[in-house]
Amino acid sequence: MRPLIIDCDPGQDDAVALLLALASPELQLLGITTVAGNVSVQQTSSNARRICELAGHPQVGVYAGCPRPLLRPLETAEQVHGKTGIDGADLPEPKMPLGSIHAVQYLIDTLMAAPAPITLALLGPMTNLAVALVQQPQIVDHIEALVFMGGSAFEGNVTPAAEFNILTDPHAAQVVLSAGIRRVVMLGLNVTHQVISTPERIERIRALGTKVGQTVAAMLTFYGKFDIERYGLPGGPLHDPCVIAYLLEPHLFQTQPCYVEVETASPLNLGRTVVDRWGASGQPANAQVAFGVNAQGFYDLLTERLGRYQ
Ligand code: BDR
Ligand code: CA
Repeated sequence: MRPLIIDCDPGQDDAVALLLALASPELQLLGITTVAGNVSVQQTSSNARRICELAGHPQVGVYAGCPRPLLRPLETAEQVHGKTGIDGADLPEPKMPLGSIHAVQYLIDTLMAAPAPITLALLGPMTNLAVALVQQPQIVDHIEALVFMGGSAFEGNVTPAAEFNILTDPHAAQVVLSAGIRRVVMLGLNVTHQVISTPERIERIRALGTKVGQTVAAMLTFYGKFDIERYGLPGGPLHDPCVIAYLLEPHLFQTQPCYVEVETASPLNLGRTVVDRWGASGQPANAQVAFGVNAQGFYDLLTERLGRYQ
């Protein structure tokens, strides 16, 4: 079992990622930290707990983190995710309590005390981990791997240059990418746009006939509307579950070692992940960047794991 902490901003796709992780015995989910991103940190913290309860895991610790990015004002994404961030899901207010310490403290305490290095899955803006790295740089040695959804080797989705998670807090992303973490895996838009939740794929999940299956299908139907109406895509790209799928079945993804840096100054390119695919900069690679994914294998894995919920 791989010890894992998930940092997230649910978000329908974060919610599906949590459900995928909680259904997978290969992963030992130690805790969940939340951050402001798709919606406020109060709302993402509530959503993470609703999903844990839906999954039948109310014992998982959920710790609320930073309410805003390091330097930029928070710009949330209700236009994509709805008012609650997980519109489509009809889940009650959570009963499980929120963890009593701040997410940054939880990350530092847990990493420093761990008997073996821990894997981190980042599904939202990187503010919490950046603050933890600044406060206690020694945590770097206690991170087994960092797998994140963010950025793009090609174009952005909020601006032509930048993807939402990185643009929300580009300074935090640059702190994290330059921290010297031993293994970093980047799953950017260039791969997550290869795993679209088409109506057929959503129907397979709905046909599971369970509360989880119905809830995921309803969330993905709501979430897909934005990309269908605005971009004419056949559904919403299922970004964040790629991180968990990578941890479970890395062979589904094709990756390449690259040097990646975040643009933090230029107004035109703010938040762009500049991926040096061909080694033009001469800088050593600091990430494995994904360029391809087996979409059928990804949806087979997701549907099978969601089917484990009764
Ligand atoms: C990322 O931004 C959010 O809207 C999603 O949850 C995902 O993490 C995609 O750009
Ligand atoms: Ca997210």
